[in-house]
Amino acid sequence: MDVEIVKNPTDDLRGFRRALGQFPTGVTVITTLDANGNPVGVTASSFNSVSIDPPLILWSVAKTAYSATVFEQADNFVVNVLGKQQVAISNACARQGEDKFSAIDYRAGIGQCPVLSGAAAYFGCKTWNLYDGGDHIIVVGEVIEYSYSDSVMPLVFARGSYAVSPPQSVITKEATAQLPEDGFLPNYLLYQLYRAYSCYSGELYPLLRNEFGISPEEWRVLTALSDVDSIGISQLAALVMQPEEDCRYSLQRLAERDYLVIESDEVIRINRSSSDIAERLFVFAKNHEQTVLNSLDKEQRQMLGSSLKAMVSGFGC
Ligand SMILES: Cc1cc2nc3c(=O)[nH]c(=O)nc-3n(C[C@H](O)[C@H](O)[C@H](O)COP(=O)(O)O)c2cc1C
Repeated sequence: MDVEIVKNPTDDLRGFRRALGQFPTGVTVITTLDANGNPVGVTASSFNSVSIDPPLILWSVAKTAYSATVFEQADNFVVNVLGKQQVAISNACARQGEDKFSAIDYRAGIGQCPVLSGAAAYFGCKTWNLYDGGDHIIVVGEVIEYSYSDSVMPLVFARGSYAVSPPQSVITKEATAQLPEDGFLPNYLLYQLYRAYSCYSGELYPLLRNEFGISPEEWRVLTALSDVDSIGISQLAALVMQPEEDCRYSLQRLAERDYLVIESDEVIRINRSSSDIAERLFVFAKNHEQTVLNSLDKEQRQMLGSSLKAMVSGFGC
């Protein structure tokens, strides 16, 4: 067992930070407009609820942040609760000052403040009060409008890291444009496979979200269930490579929308009886697959499928 060492924060600020990092939080991007009407955004984990009636929330901004004075003077701001797939946005808004919104998709919310697309929730606020909080300013906001999405898993931050299961990196066109066509990387199989996956899922997942409100995690669960009569939660979690807890979250969301039936932890199955809701989704994905394969001729299509299968069986997987 660890020996308990009791410290004074002023003697060990780094240790104090580390101790605070033991408390997991969500991740938000707080947005507003500056005096010139330009969007401003800061990644913040200090967000929390304060009061239900009146509806109040708070967060704190470092006095040294570029945007601290903008938030001090702002009448309105928006708290965007980031989803699990938004690590890149969190990182972009955690960098000082730079043009954070050039690659971010958003719409105007309360007071024209940016509401980010794909977030787990947002709270449009009127600044209620500001308080001095040492090296931070505590901002309390009255929530005027809000919205949330059941299909977006919130991003979690603890011990200085994002708690994410799959890798978040997406290969961008700008990055690959720099590679020579005959170089090692563009012709290395593992990279080609990952790049193809990245392009394919980067196109399909937003479509599934827009058309059906289905997240990538939920889609993996549904596809894993499509070929079995029923399955247990542990086996399903292993099949979709998700921690059991995350898998349970996806299952619950899908069951609420009638996509599947959870009889027990051992018996989970697609709901084929009451509606064709899951079938419509599979047809949509199959049609999309056809458009992906349109860039190949017939022989290439057959070769691609059979080569991938042969390679996997060569691994004995
Ligand atoms: C996960 C995470 C949480 C953060 N939480 C806060 C916070 O609550 N308050 C804050 O002032 N800065 C926080 N930061 C740091 C700011 O995002 C960072 O200092 C940013 O540069 C501020 O932007 P600005 O200087 O352009 O205003 C956090 C950063 C990360 C990565």
